Amino acid sequence: MLQERVPDLSRSVTSLVEPDRVRREVYTDPDIFELEMQRIHERVWIYCGHLTQIPKAGDYYTVQVGRQPMIMVRKSDGGVAVLHNRCPHRGNMICGDLKGNTGEFFRCSYHAWTFHHDGKLKNIPMMESGYQGTRFGKGNPDCNVKPAARVEVYRGFVFASLAKDGPSLKEFLGPAIVAFDDMCDRAPEGEVEIVPNCFRVIQRSNWKIFMENQLDALHPSVTHQSTGRAAHEVEKQIAKKTRKGEAPLSYHMLSAFATVTIDKWDGFQTINYPHGHSILTGYMGLRPQDPDTLAYDKIMIKKYGKKRFEEIIGVNIHHVLVYPGLSVQSPLQQLRAVRPLGVDRTLTEIWHFRLKGAPEAIYRRSLAYYNLVNSPATLINADDLENFWKCHQGLASEGGDWVSFHRHYGRDLEKNGVVESAPNMGTSEAPMRNQMKAWVQYLQD
Ligand code: FES
Ligand SMILES: [Fe+2]
Repeated sequence: MLQERVPDLSRSVTSLVEPDRVRREVYTDPDIFELEMQRIHERVWIYCGHLTQIPKAGDYYTVQVGRQPMIMVRKSDGGVAVLHNRCPHRGNMICGDLKGNTGEFFRCSYHAWTFHHDGKLKNIPMMESGYQGTRFGKGNPDCNVKPAARVEVYRGFVFASLAKDGPSLKEFLGPAIVAFDDMCDRAPEGEVEIVPNCFRVIQRSNWKIFMENQLDALHPSVTHQSTGRAAHEVEKQIAKKTRKGEAPLSYHMLSAFATVTIDKWDGFQTINYPHGHSILTGYMGLRPQDPDTLAYDKIMIKKYGKKRFEEIIGVNIHHVLVYPGLSVQSPLQQLRAVRPLGVDRTLTEIWHFRLKGAPEAIYRRSLAYYNLVNSPATLINADDLENFWKCHQGLASEGGDWVSFHRHYGRDLEKNGVVESAPNMGTSEAPMRNQMKAWVQYLQD
């Protein structure tokens, strides 16, 4: 028998979350997960993909929005649609592949119903004779593939919301919109192009554990210390052998995890906004004076002028978190999209982008970083994944009831709903507190 347990849960949400700590069930209870999918992931704006993934009419990518399998498709008129991946006949998924080109229309593989790119029914085999006198057929909206309630695109980034009402994409993003502006502005042509493949990682942990780790400025020098140390040793050996005494920049990207001591990470700052979004400022200093960078600078100055170029390149962002499902590192042209699959299973898709008009060497640099921190061959991602799994295992145990977010609690600076970590308190758990504040608001709505 179907039971309606969800309303009971939403009433008790406030007892699960306090400003500085959270009950472990928030991460482990399957009913809470269902409620999160209904009230958060299937309502708010969720990142589907980038327009450059689907350049031609009929190009599509399948994507998970909350619990819903969806299709992002380029329409014949050049626009984009996001559709439920479900045939209105007997429920078959319209697209079984991750991506492809559907041609001029979708054709269901079960009984050959066909649909336009916007989901509207095109034809049913033997429609006249088969459906005469029934309420099915053209004109009945139930015969169309259901579209997402709302779709919006910002600078090529496609978002869908499954709720008819709610803030516009821009209102929802608020100041976190800088993630997309910063990434695109760094391109001489003002646009980025997706590199058409991503790392897909399934982690055995709740989705919120991933989100909380993204702006956790304390963990890198601990979790990634062993990887950083090994990279530093190799960096020193290579440096000794080179004329200029320098190893390639990619070694520095890893060795920084060990050479930047734990107290230095407090020098970062987090700015935490409504809706659970956050920005981590401070940057690892990837503005070297090598010939590749100088060539890029020259192109940018020619395009934008010196003043605007300095503004663009001076944007002080390390990471932007768009709650509940996106983590963007705009200066390195990469993002991670979070797709919760179950209370203890989460898919992340890790994409990277080319700056249109920038020299190839600049792309190679961001590719190096992308591989160094995300590929199956790197220990950086493996270090994090192991923590995520161990966190989930620990939280599922009865060894304690609460998760602690007390670091620098009470010292945050709050003004007009924006919470900043205090100076030299960059490791504050303010982003986690901010996420849980938004979580409660969403679940109570
Ligand atoms: S289920 Fe799609 S045509 Fe029958
Ligand atoms: Fe990490």
